[in-house]
Parts: sequence; C-alpha cells; structure tokens
Amino acid sequence: MICNNLSVNAEGHLCLAGVDTVRLAQTYGTPLYVMDEDRIRERCRTYRSAMRDAFGPDALPLYAGKAAAFRQIYRVMREEGMGIDVVSPGEIYAAASVGFPMGRAYFHGNNKTDADIAYALDRRVGCFVVDNREELETLNRMAGERGIRQKILLRLTPGIDPHTYDAVATGKVDSKFGAAIETGQAGELTALALSLPHVSLAGFHCHVGSQVFDSDVYLRACAIMLNFAAEMKAAHGYVTGELDLGGGYGVRYLESDPEIDIAANIRQVGQALRAQCASLGLPVPAVRMEPGRSIVADAGLTLYTVGTFKQIPGYKNYVSVDGGMTDNPRFALYRSPYTVCIANRMREPAALRASVVGRCCESGDILQEDVPVPGTVARGDIAAVLTTGAYNYAMSSTYNRIPRPAMVLLRGGEPTLAVRRETYADLCRNEL
Ligand code: LLP
Repeated sequence: MICNNLSVNAEGHLCLAGVDTVRLAQTYGTPLYVMDEDRIRERCRTYRSAMRDAFGPDALPLYAGKAAAFRQIYRVMREEGMGIDVVSPGEIYAAASVGFPMGRAYFHGNNKTDADIAYALDRRVGCFVVDNREELETLNRMAGERGIRQKILLRLTPGIDPHTYDAVATGKVDSKFGAAIETGQAGELTALALSLPHVSLAGFHCHVGSQVFDSDVYLRACAIMLNFAAEMKAAHGYVTGELDLGGGYGVRYLESDPEIDIAANIRQVGQALRAQCASLGLPVPAVRMEPGRSIVADAGLTLYTVGTFKQIPGYKNYVSVDGGMTDNPRFALYRSPYTVCIANRMREPAALRASVVGRCCESGDILQEDVPVPGTVARGDIAAVLTTGAYNYAMSSTYNRIPRPAMVLLRGGEPTLAVRRETYADLCRNEL
C-alpha cells in the first residue's frame, strides 16, 4: 500500500484509517471523497514541530488551502494552530466562517482586484503577500483610507527551476508571479515598500514549485533569498523579519514515488539557514512554509461505482465509473499518475490492464491509464482512486451538469459528512 493509513480487511475490502471503504460507498453513495482527518492533523503536527525545532519558536507552517478548501478543514487548521495561505476572498470567507483567526492568514495572488484587497483588509487578514507594484500602491492607498498599516511580505522569484511540471513551476525568472531578484525588480519593489507609510514590510516570500522531492531546491532558494536579504540590509539598513519559503514537499501517488521524511528535510534546511544567517550577519528570520499537498493528499481517496467493463480484443479495456474529470481533472490536465484499485476485490489478482474513465461526454475524461484490474471486475464494484486529498475537490467542476460529490471525514474511525452531495437544484440555484 502506498500509504500506511490504507489496509485490507478480512472481507478483502480496502480500508482507509481502518474504515471499510465499500461500506462508506454503500452508506453515502458514490462518487465520494473520503478524508482521513487524523492523518491531516498528524501532518500539521509534523510541520509545526519540525519547523519549531529547525527554525525556532516563531516559525509557522501556513496550510495552502488551494489544495483543499472547505469549512471543516479550516476548523481543523484552527484547532491545530496552523496559519493559512489564502488566495481569494472565497477562501477567506470559508476560513472566517468557522472562526479561523484571520491574523494568521497570508493573502496571495498575482492579480488581487481592488475588491479583493478591500475584502481582505476589512476581514483583517494578517499579512498580504504582495506580488507587484500595482498591488503595493493600491494596498497602501486602501490601507491608508482605513487608517491601517498593513503587514506585508513581498513575493520574489529566486530564479530556480525545480524540474517539476510546468503548471506548478512558479519560481523561475519568467514566472507570472512575483518580482525577479535577477533583474533588479525585487530590489526596486523593496525600496518602494519601505517608502510607503501604510504598509509594513515584514520580509520576503518565494515559492519554487509544487510536488518537489528535492530538498536541494529549498536549500538553493533559501541561499538566494538570504543573500537578497543581506543586500537589502546593506542598501537600506532593512532587517528581514520573516522569510516564507512557499509550498511543501511532494507526495507519493505511485509505489515507485520516493517517500519523503518531512522532518529530516526541514531540519536540513534549518541547519543551512542558520549557518548562512550567521555568515551574513543576519538574525534568523521567522520562517514560514506553505504546505498544501503534503498536508492533505494522502489523507484522501475517492470512491466510485463501476458501471461498465468494456474489453476491445486486441486493443484495450475500459472500466467506466460514475465520476471522472469533474471530480478529478488532474489526469486530463497534467497526465497525473494515480494508484487505482477495486476496493471490493483487493485479494483478487489483477490480471488485466484497463483505462479507468469517467462518465463525461469527452474522450479526454480519463482518471488513469494502464491500471491493473482483476478480470472479474463488474458493474456495481467500487473503484478507489488513492491520494486524491489535494487538488481534487478544490479543482472539481460541474461539467455536463454532474453534481459535485459529497465528502466524508474520518475521525477516530468515525465518518462524518463534511460536504453534502450537490443536488440538481444546487446546479440551477443562480440561474434566472
Ligand atoms: N504556496 C504557493 C505560493 C503556491 O503557489 C502553492 C501551490 C503552494 C503554496 C502549495 O504547494 P503544495 O504544498 O501544495 O505543493 N493544481 C496543481 C497544483 C498547483 C499548485 C500551485 N501552487 C496540481 O493539481 O498539481
């Protein structure tokens, strides 16, 4: 099993956190997102304690809600003492609605509208991660109108290519995000921020990419950011108080993916950061990281009911399920790998190979290709796609007017509904 919260029970059924997934499918219907809340909490604690040990008591992980943003997860983040990275008023609204302390929210985005900025200021979001000059000037004006001095970080691009897929590589010089250090624009943005009365520059942010397995990428980013901080000290006498290193580590989608020791990696970054601060004569900043995927991905799986098993002799086989690219567009978008199994036939040998496809009217509606399946697979079976906790519910759509699935959280072996299944009436709610 790719993750230690998965097991198989005496009936040969797949279990998540000890709970029989076939029973869950019977009780709640399919497609169904299932999330292991205990695993989410465990990951939060791993990041919190590893970051405190590595960087000191002021370090704080910010959960990147873009990976999975819904009210109950913000409740978990509040209870676990996490900060959050928010990217839209929608995320701010959801977090605030369950009493998340907005002082621990960091607001991201390369194009925050005036309305976004006003909303975040009025909700007292703790920190803006400012992306560009227009945002900086607008924020300064709007904070001034409210008599506020808003804490900010500046988003910089350190010019690192993390060798991940294009859609998630964000730290390169030619990125749409942030100000480049290499071109001098980061220095100019810093000078501007320091000159404005209604923003208070706390430090700098960078994000090199997502699904990164290589600690080397963080070490390089850290080195470039601290050198920049030393330059700003020399140029303006400005001392960086916070350093945000962006998103978290990669996760295992396949058996062949490496397993990452998050705490050991953070320790390594901590040692390098302390040594470099000492040699540059900088105080150790309060470090932030923004893990999304590695907090929620392997806490989740998606259950589907099999509808057809089509064999085309000499060509290929298809298993069609009752969801697809609407609840998980990641294969269609990125050809992302996933492990798929037939949850009620875990003890049967997987003798055939099939594409597992969705129900949308589109041939690109594929969840995964070349999946080993038992030859007995049949209508009514339950298919499980593993490691779907990140960027699935968050990226779901209602294409073909397919309602979004329900989501169940497992806590101490007990399922509770976190998101109700969408109804057809929900789909028409805003239509006149
Ligand atoms: N912080 C920033 C500024 C980010 O841009 C991201 C991800 C994160 C944190 C969280 O990174 P994580 O820990 O989750 O790797 N939809 C794509 C992922 C796009 C992520 C973009 N930014 C996917 O499904 O793979």
